[in-house]
Amino acid sequence: MDKLYMYINGEWQESASGERMEYFNPADQMTLGTIPRGNKVDVDHAVSAAKTTFEGSVWKEFKPHERGSILFEVARRIRENKNELARLETIDVGKPLAQSIADVEAAARYFEFYGGAADKLMGETIPIEDGMIDFTVREPIGITAHIIPWNYPIQITSRSTAAAIATGNTVVVKAAEQTPLTTMKIAEYFHDTDLPEGVFNVVTGLGNEAGARLSNHPDVNHITFTGSVPTGIKIMKAAADHVIPVTLELGGKSPNIVFADCDEEETLNGVIRSIIQNAGQTCSAGSRLLIEGAYKDEFLLLLKDRLEALTIGPGEEEHNIGPILSKEQYEKVISYVHQGRKEGEIVTGGNRVHIEGYEEGFYIQPTVIDKLTHDSEVAQEEIFGPVLTVFSFDTEKEAVQLANGTNYGLVTGIWTSHLGKAHRLADQIRAGQVFVNNYGAGGGIQMPFGGYKRSGFGREKGFEALKNYTQLKNVAIKYR
Ligand code: NAI
Ligand code: MG
Repeated sequence: MDKLYMYINGEWQESASGERMEYFNPADQMTLGTIPRGNKVDVDHAVSAAKTTFEGSVWKEFKPHERGSILFEVARRIRENKNELARLETIDVGKPLAQSIADVEAAARYFEFYGGAADKLMGETIPIEDGMIDFTVREPIGITAHIIPWNYPIQITSRSTAAAIATGNTVVVKAAEQTPLTTMKIAEYFHDTDLPEGVFNVVTGLGNEAGARLSNHPDVNHITFTGSVPTGIKIMKAAADHVIPVTLELGGKSPNIVFADCDEEETLNGVIRSIIQNAGQTCSAGSRLLIEGAYKDEFLLLLKDRLEALTIGPGEEEHNIGPILSKEQYEKVISYVHQGRKEGEIVTGGNRVHIEGYEEGFYIQPTVIDKLTHDSEVAQEEIFGPVLTVFSFDTEKEAVQLANGTNYGLVTGIWTSHLGKAHRLADQIRAGQVFVNNYGAGGGIQMPFGGYKRSGFGREKGFEALKNYTQLKNVAIKYR
C-alpha cells in the first residue's frame, strides 16, 4: 500500500489533522493506498507558501527561458518514466494501458509546449501620438489554483500547471481524491529540479473540504477547474466573492454528425473511439450519434457488430474498455441505462459485465440507445459511461438543430466527404471544438479547448491558455 504525502513549500507533508483517506483500483475496487485528508489548515499553508514565493525575489528573478528549462526537465522525467507512469494511471483510473500511454505522452508534450512558450509571450506597441510610446506587458496573475478531476489526472495536472508556471505564477493543485498517483509523481519531478520552493504545491483531500477552501481562499488569484457543472457553479460563486477569474471546463454531451457520404471505416472508428475512451468517462466523449436518416439502419448494424467485438476488462490486461471508476459512478451510469431502456430501445449492450478475478470491479458493456425523444434526460445529460444515444436527421438544418440542442457545447464531430457541407455545419455549430472527419486530433496540445454554454468558458491548451495566467498592463510614456 502506497502512503502518499502532500507537497507544500518543497516538502512532503502529512495533513495537520493527521487524517488519511483511501484511494482504489477501479479494476477490482481494492485499496491502493492512502492520502492525507487535507483541510483548511493545509490549504492555507500551501497558499501562504505560494504567496511568499510569488512575492519574493528568487522566483521573480527567474528568466523566462529558465522557467522553460524547468518545464523541459519535467517533460524529460515524464518520458523517462513513461511506462511506470502509464501503469500508475491505469491502476488508479482504470483505463487501458494504451490510453494511459497516450495520456502520459500528452502530459510530456504540455510541459514541452509551455516550456518552449515561456520566453515567447510578447506584448504590443500601440501607436498613440508623436512623443509618446505605448506598450503592453503580460504579467503573471499571482497564485493560481488548479482543481483536478479523476478522469485524466496526469494530463489535466500538466496542461494547466505548465502554462501557469511558464508565465511566472506560483500554483496550488488540489489533486483528485480518487486518483492522486500521477499528480504526486509530477510533484516528485518538480522536486528534483531547481524550481524554487513554493512554486508548485499539491494538496490532497476532499472537494468540499480542501477544494472548497482553495476556491474561496482570499489570496488565490485565479482558479482552473475541470469537472461537473454543479461544482463549477460553486467555484464560480466562491471566485465572485474575491473578484477573481476562473477557467471552467464542465464536460459535455458532444455529438458525432454522420452523413451518408462519409468514409464509413474512418467514421466507425472515430465514433467508437470517442465513446469508449476511458469507458466514456471523458469530458469530450462523443456521446450522441446523429445520423442521416437514409443511412441509419446500415450504420447502426455495423456499429453494433463492432461494439460487440470489443473486449472489456482490467486496464492492465489491455482490453478496449476498462472499468468505471467507482460504485457511485457505476450507479449513475446504469440508472441512465435503465431509464433509456424504459423510454427507448437498447440496440446493443446495456448490462454490467462480470470479470473473473475482478468481481468487485464495475464493468459496463458499450451501450447504444435508440428511439429516445431528444429532450429526454438520457439524451441531454452527461452520462459519463460508454453509452451512446442515437438520433437521425434528414436535412442539414435538422442536423444542426439536434447538434446544438443541449445545454452543452464542448466538441462536435462532422463526418462527410462534402467540403461545403462540412464548412456550412462547422459555421453553425455552437461548440468550442469542431472536428471534420476526425475527432480529438490526437490530443491536440496546441489547439484551444473549452466550452460554449454550460460546458464552461475560458480556453485551455495552446497559446490561448497562457492568457488565463497573465494579466495585461498597458504602459504609456510621454517623452516630449
Ligand atoms: P466534481 O466536479 O465534484 O469533482 C471534480 C474536482 O472538484 C475534484 O477534485 C473534487 O475534489 C473537486 N471538488 C468537488 N467539490 C468541490 C467544491 N465544493 N469546491 C471545490 N472543489 C470541489 O465531480 P465528481 O463528483 O468527481 O464527478 C461527478 C460527475 O461530474 C461525473 O459523473 C461527471 O459527469 C462529471 N465530471 C466531469 C468531468 C469532466 O471531465 N468534465 C470530470 C469529472 C467529473
Ligand atoms: Mg483510484
